[in-house]
Amino acid sequence: MLNKRTKVVAFNHVSNALGTINPVREIAAIARTVGSLVVCDGAQGVPHMRVDFDSLDVDFYAFSGHKMCGPTGIGFLYGKRALLEAMPPFLTGGDMIKRVQFTTTTFNELPWKFEAGTSNIADAIALGAAVDYLEKIGMDWIEAHERSITAYALDRLRELEPLGLVLYGPQNPADRAGIIAFNLGDVHPHDVASILDTEGVCVRAGHHCTMPLMEKMGWTATARASFYLYNVEQDVEQLIAGLRKAATIFKLG
Ligand SMILES: Cc1ncc(COP(=O)(O)O)c(C=O)c1O
Repeated sequence: MLNKRTKVVAFNHVSNALGTINPVREIAAIARTVGSLVVCDGAQGVPHMRVDFDSLDVDFYAFSGHKMCGPTGIGFLYGKRALLEAMPPFLTGGDMIKRVQFTTTTFNELPWKFEAGTSNIADAIALGAAVDYLEKIGMDWIEAHERSITAYALDRLRELEPLGLVLYGPQNPADRAGIIAFNLGDVHPHDVASILDTEGVCVRAGHHCTMPLMEKMGWTATARASFYLYNVEQDVEQLIAGLRKAATIFKLG
């Protein structure tokens, strides 16, 4: 419940568990009614669509390199300048300081104030190459491609509902990114994932780091298929064939 004591409202741009594209701007506007800061996790947003921080009107927005064809262990944090200026450094080390005396210290300007020590230069270059690669393909193309393959996959997966397949998340492909969570009857998603694996299909199974969501919805776990710029309709066919195999093994339908 939001109230005057709410200091920070933090949420996903896109849910990694359900694929839901959240109405970031609207959530930010509600958070501001109680004077809260707005922090958005864009790990599943930035790799999949064009994002304009100004129009989302968030205070902070974070995303990871390894979810956008880049290296692990590096990412970005966007922050509004006035807030970053007001914040003290959280790490000490080389370059975050401008002037040191026995009695006073002046911290460096942005962004160096927050980039203490020798940077992870190689990964930053690799991440820059990933950004160039995605921009060359075009974020609009990537978004449209994901939308179309997700819509196709949703249609094909619905054909398995008589076998006990249950789909989670928004039904309208326009409201979700390329993430489809599901369960197949009472079969544990780890078993579903193992059988799909034998068919060359890699899905994630489990709670997807969203245990409170699983608890609230009364789900033990889900299986999750996700699509990116490199997936094609043949991958969906493979997924469907793998799920039919799982249904046969577990005598569903
Ligand atoms: C929405 C979301 N936020 C954060 C993370 C974690 O990112 P990182 O491993 O870069 O900390 C993930 C995935 O691992 C994610 O899907």
